[in-house]
Amino acid sequence: MEENKKIYILGISAFYHDSSAALIQDGKIIAAVQEERFTRIKFDSSYPINSINYCLNVADINIQDVNEVVYFEKNHLKFDRILKTYFKYLPKSFFQFAKAINLWLKEKNYIEKELSSHLNWKKNIKSFTHHESHAASAFYPSPYEDAAILTLDGVGEWTCTSIAHGQKNKIKVLQEVNYPDSLGMIYSAFTEFSGFKVNEDEYKLMGLAPYGKPVFKDLILNKLIKIYDDGSYKLNLKYFAFHYGHTTINKNFESLFGLKRNSNEEIRDLDQNMAASIQEVFNEIFVKLAITAKKITGSKNLVIAGGVGLNCVANGKIVEQNIFKNIWVQAAAGDAGCSLGCALIAYYNKNQRVLGTTNQKSSFLGPEFTSEEVKNILDNYSIDYKNFENDDLLLGEITNNLVGGKIIGLFQGRMEFGPRALGARSIIGDARSIDMQKNMNLKIKYRESFRPFAPAILEEHVHEYFSYFEKSPFMSFIFKLKKNHRIPNILKEMPLIDRLHQKRSIFPAITHVDYSARIQSVSKEENPLFHRVINNFYKKTNCPMIINTSFNVMGEPIVCTPIDALRCFFSNDMDILVLNNFVIHKDSQKIESIGKLNQLEELLI
Ligand SMILES: [Fe+2]
Repeated sequence: MEENKKIYILGISAFYHDSSAALIQDGKIIAAVQEERFTRIKFDSSYPINSINYCLNVADINIQDVNEVVYFEKNHLKFDRILKTYFKYLPKSFFQFAKAINLWLKEKNYIEKELSSHLNWKKNIKSFTHHESHAASAFYPSPYEDAAILTLDGVGEWTCTSIAHGQKNKIKVLQEVNYPDSLGMIYSAFTEFSGFKVNEDEYKLMGLAPYGKPVFKDLILNKLIKIYDDGSYKLNLKYFAFHYGHTTINKNFESLFGLKRNSNEEIRDLDQNMAASIQEVFNEIFVKLAITAKKITGSKNLVIAGGVGLNCVANGKIVEQNIFKNIWVQAAAGDAGCSLGCALIAYYNKNQRVLGTTNQKSSFLGPEFTSEEVKNILDNYSIDYKNFENDDLLLGEITNNLVGGKIIGLFQGRMEFGPRALGARSIIGDARSIDMQKNMNLKIKYRESFRPFAPAILEEHVHEYFSYFEKSPFMSFIFKLKKNHRIPNILKEMPLIDRLHQKRSIFPAITHVDYSARIQSVSKEENPLFHRVINNFYKKTNCPMIINTSFNVMGEPIVCTPIDALRCFFSNDMDILVLNNFVIHKDSQKIESIGKLNQLEELLI
């Protein structure tokens, strides 16, 4: 009947970085997923055909049943910015300008054409601006009727940072900082200088900061960026190249700080100090922006999105300053989350907001697999497993193995949307073990990382271990371990990796060298299954936290399907894999089944 007809809106983020699709039904988020999980290409920016098909499958509809298709940015404004910027910086920007003109002439209607033809979509495709999409992804799924909204990233069309006010179904932008003044760009400049990959490895720079001293903070503030009282800022372009070339920094930047590191060279004290210094600058900007957002909105709530919003150290500083009563950060804070945001704008342009309808309590919005599907795969590959039909017995098995020092791949239910594994596609281990940290890095993740792992901690126990608390279901904040849990007088003058391996608390695997940890608070209501896993471990050990790292190896996206999980499991030294209720022990496998797994592509589910 007509009045019961459901309204579907499909949001798409694509062709730039981390493509994704999201589907909402009558304002409810029913599916959201990144394309990289299907194609196995990290940050895949291609047309998200698999993500779109997945979303439609969840609702059991086809594209003709969708009421609106919405795109996450305005392409003509983006080109306007690119062309005007390169034009302004001619002749230095000549090659980039020529390339952009060429692309624009060839592809000015590219997005609309590409989407329409792929989708077989005859109607109009709406689009909203990049930062409108970020802001909507932060506000509408949050639990607040009224909130200040902070969006921070590299750049959308023109906007790089914005403060907006969300009230019921309306979002009003109040203040913006425009390109080329970009927090994303300056952070990428430091990422490049320190020998990491721009647009990918920014989180590594953040993880490096606690090793360094912020000795360059004044120099950065004097030469590179001017911060105003309201948190707005201006870059001194003399030191950057992103606005005219294909790198982010130029020779002036190097003459100020020294030569940049090649990625194959050892990490230097200089890189550690650079990371610490830019982090201090970011902390100051975040706090000032938050104070301004509070002042001009009068709201007691803050929501955050945009790739720079993944800086959980700076987010933690906002919490420490006690500016807002509540803070919520979108799980998919980067551009993937924009597919969700733009779909929600389209919905709320026509509908009133009933609080709770779009509330994104978890990020479990991706594919899941039935026990029958999992069993078929395991049988097909002659993989030895034990099926625990009783959940309590399964939990007992997981706990006993965690306590026994085993590293476990945990594959349960719907996959996470956004960059963090939160219990559905996670590798877990005992946070109390220092060997665990080494083993996980070297044997499982294949990285000699200077970053410790993140703890997943029962929400009701966070206050016992950390000085500050904000619900952190998506690992959005970094807080310091309380003094009584620290091992004092740790040595600071020793090589980086030795410092990491120095025991700093009774939870060495999750405590950074400055006693900080990127926490995931796990609540019984929002993440019941993972809560049970940790709670069972707590009952046995009196320790309410475990290591939670993403289920992947370095350079690969997080696993999506049971096949991906098996491939990852058999390619490293993980001990146990838990696929739904099936438990697979590595050491009980026959060689033939592992060999057979090499032919995974031939498998038909
Ligand atoms: Fe963005």
